Amino acid sequence: MDNSQSKQPSETAEITVGNKTILCPVITGTENEKALDISQLRSKTGFVTYDDGFSNTASCLSSITYIDGENGVLRYRGIPIEELAEKRTFVEVAHLLIFGHLPSADERGVFSKLLTSNCMIHDNMVKLFDNLPSSSHPMATLSAMVVTLSAYYPELSNLEINPGEINQIIAELLAKLRTLAAYSYKKSIGEPIIYPKRKYRYVENFLHMMFSTPVDEYPLDKEVVDAIEKILILHADHEQNCSTSTVRLVGSSKANLFASISAGICALWGPLHGGANQAVIEMLESIVRDGGQAKRVIERAKDKKDSFRLMGFGHRIYKNFDPRAKIIKEICDKLLLKLGINDPCLDVAKQIEEIALKDDYFIERKLYPNVDFYSGIILRAIGIPTNMFTVIFAMGRLPGWIAHWKEQRDTPTTKIGRPRQIYVGAPIKHIE
Ligand code: CMC
Repeated sequence: MDNSQSKQPSETAEITVGNKTILCPVITGTENEKALDISQLRSKTGFVTYDDGFSNTASCLSSITYIDGENGVLRYRGIPIEELAEKRTFVEVAHLLIFGHLPSADERGVFSKLLTSNCMIHDNMVKLFDNLPSSSHPMATLSAMVVTLSAYYPELSNLEINPGEINQIIAELLAKLRTLAAYSYKKSIGEPIIYPKRKYRYVENFLHMMFSTPVDEYPLDKEVVDAIEKILILHADHEQNCSTSTVRLVGSSKANLFASISAGICALWGPLHGGANQAVIEMLESIVRDGGQAKRVIERAKDKKDSFRLMGFGHRIYKNFDPRAKIIKEICDKLLLKLGINDPCLDVAKQIEEIALKDDYFIERKLYPNVDFYSGIILRAIGIPTNMFTVIFAMGRLPGWIAHWKEQRDTPTTKIGRPRQIYVGAPIKHIE
């Protein structure tokens, strides 16, 4: 899609710098969001803009996901996240994000078949797992293996291919990343890898590859499958977050899909982004170990001399509530009840939320639980080890990353990403 088509400015804004004035076209989004097009600013005035962390900078026009952070709204291709989480599977949502519409029954059949038939990994590549230390973090393994796909499947790394072939690559990646994620876990615990089965659907196969052994088949529980399905849907896209922007930036150099996604996985790993789900559980566990002192943790988070932050709280965009967190909390309560689990971490999490939501520090800064606050408790209840939490986030985010990579690739006007900087280093010096 050529997003430049929607760029029809009807208003302009004036920017005066010194004695120079330029007219900036105002770009209006579908939901009446306004942006100033400052692309002529430097050439006409010599100035650039400075925006640490890109808090006020739109880097692209996109038709994939809409977020209204003030009102807790999240929609994929126009459809509210609440409806998708309730009524659709992850594979259908992946199709929606990547191809722009929910699949018809026929399309769903074809897409599912493609995923099942492409889930195997080249046997020589599987051997690479043996050479990684079993202590390696599964995110390191996953990122390394995803970029390695371009070595084992070079024909899929060629960008000069037709749309049919792109769909094939996309299906391969969606199918193979799930297999790689499960293999990285099996290798980390020293168990033989388990091959996927045709009879299982996407999420079922993931759980089977994670938890079955050569002697025992993992008994699939509908509620568990459903919880993972919803977690993946809730993570599937979130417009220009750190990892997606990374995927777009790498992809803007015309790097292949595997290289771009591998970079996105690395960006996701950090504790301020996708790594927060692991950090939340580690924080909750340490509070439980110390006797459940939720109040003390809140005080530390508020103390400006302490670098500690309340993990799973706060968001750059959501300033009222995170709609994903609301759904996740419901899934968490329901699943733990069904599985008969009484997790002290859940009690501590609820205490923290209750205290923080009444505390001026958090109220003034509009800090609320985000998607990572309760997701770890669900994953823990299912038996997924803590260091795999961010891998699950990566599996969920994959369709979003692919959709953005594809949108950018299909937009002929896309430029290579190349921000400016303000140099504040030493002035010119000469060698004596
Ligand atoms: N605990 C304590 N104080 C916080 C927190 C927190 N979790 N988050 C923000 N603040 C404070 C921050 O110190 C600052 O205070 P002040 O104005 O006095 O300097 C103010 O709130 C604004 O914070 P910021 O760092 O400027 O906000 P940001 O938009 O740059 O950062 C964030 C957003 C998510 C990185 C941050 O809220 C944070 O570090 N949260 C904890 C990590 C986390 O849960 N990350 C997962 C995000 S959701 C999943 C995803 O999409 O990645």
